[in-house]
Amino acid sequence: MIFGRVKSLDAILLTASRKSLHRSLGAFQLTMLGVGSIIGTGIFVLTAEAAQKAGPGMMLSFIIAGFVCAVAALCYAEMAAMVPVSGSAYTYSYAVMGELIAWMVGWALVLEYAVAAGAVSVGWSGYVVGLFQHVTGITVPKEFVLGPIDGGIINLPAAIIALLVTLLLVRGTKESATVNSILVAVKLLALTVFVILAVPVMNMEHFKPFAPLGFGGISAAAASIFFAYVGFDAVSTAAEETKNPQRNMPIGLIGSLALCTVFYILVAAGVIGGVGAQPVAGAAGEILAPGSADLAARCAARAAEGMKDVVCSKEALAWTLREIGWPQIGNLLGLAAGIALPSVILMMMFGQTRIFFVMSRDGLLPTGLSKVHPKFKTPHVITLITGVFVALFAALFPVGALADISNSGTLFAFAMVAIAVMVLRKTDPTRHRPFRTPAVLIVAPLATLGSVYLFFSLSAYTIGLFFGWAIIGLVVYFLYGYRKSHVGRGVVETHEEDADAPPMPVPPVA
Ligand code: ALA
Repeated sequence: MIFGRVKSLDAILLTASRKSLHRSLGAFQLTMLGVGSIIGTGIFVLTAEAAQKAGPGMMLSFIIAGFVCAVAALCYAEMAAMVPVSGSAYTYSYAVMGELIAWMVGWALVLEYAVAAGAVSVGWSGYVVGLFQHVTGITVPKEFVLGPIDGGIINLPAAIIALLVTLLLVRGTKESATVNSILVAVKLLALTVFVILAVPVMNMEHFKPFAPLGFGGISAAAASIFFAYVGFDAVSTAAEETKNPQRNMPIGLIGSLALCTVFYILVAAGVIGGVGAQPVAGAAGEILAPGSADLAARCAARAAEGMKDVVCSKEALAWTLREIGWPQIGNLLGLAAGIALPSVILMMMFGQTRIFFVMSRDGLLPTGLSKVHPKFKTPHVITLITGVFVALFAALFPVGALADISNSGTLFAFAMVAIAVMVLRKTDPTRHRPFRTPAVLIVAPLATLGSVYLFFSLSAYTIGLFFGWAIIGLVVYFLYGYRKSHVGRGVVETHEEDADAPPMPVPPVA
């Protein structure tokens, strides 16, 4: 019975307990770690996408998505503090719900991490190309900077940044605490300047109609903008290095999410009030799907007529600043995005390689994949494979489509983690929990239901892709992992003393 294939929590914990990392992180560092990996393409680029789905009502979408992340974060924190080893939601599920679910979660995390890295690469490309064009006055042929659905052929800058980050990862680059602090400062400064310039010139007329597509539109935008909050698991995976986790973990998680939510709402208000954010309709008045070829064509036609829509911009915030009379500051904001976004790509790809690494070490993926480079001590094989796929996604697909697909995988993992927390409270109530989810009987079900609600608010196309991906995953599992699984073969292993074990998926913060 495959549901019986549970990885023993004690065996997992043996690995963790002998590692004993120094507990050095306080609430402030955790919050900075969170903000560093959260703020990225979501707010800088997908604000335009959210506007197309919800109009000004996207302000509510930001609140809804932030709330679902906050309750999910509290569940993540309990698992992360209790099972502080690599593999995140995959490992938690393995211990609580067994191998099949764990495999499905790991398979979904490929969407969360690798596809997200692709999305952030495309977002980066939009800003860098926009900046280049504004500073030099040279128009880059769109064939080479947009994917086929956006009206181009290949998004070269996006593919190149993904490959550069891959090389950094193969060489073993981890972001240092100083670099993280500088990038957090750059991002917060850019958003603060945006708010200071855009909010005072707000035109209240732009908020009407507030919800042109009703609550359905607001939910759909929440499901997309959810991407803007992803990344806080960097905080929960630092549980082992946290001083007094019961106090500092929730402050770090909720603190970083709350800080981002406040910024996001102000930025959204600035965009709406500054330039308006009504969805763009097709010739017959129908609302066009974000990221669709139809919308791209309509945007091009409107631009030719001199109409300006933030919905059509690939660099929504820089575009808004230029429109409200601050072209140079708009360029500086573009520069800030250009500098800061690659670190988000790095974190996402880093997470992906570590998940694959653990899955391969468990025998669910070929063990050759977890080979470690003799000199760089990084899992170079899996890093290169991941990098090539990320570059392909980035070269070919629009940012919104990638973000939505990534969200589908993340939401699935969130729901599973919240369920795992409840199950483990029942089946193993006495185990030591360095951090306990507060009001778990309310918070965990809210996280599960919230994730399910956002999942089903994604487009039918995205949901279909997710299930297609899941079916492929099941086939791969029964053809390969089911037979090769170490747990299935009765091998119990701990890896804490492996000379070649790659570092924990936590960027050094202290
Ligand atoms: N939250 C990250 C971003 O918006 C993934 O880029």
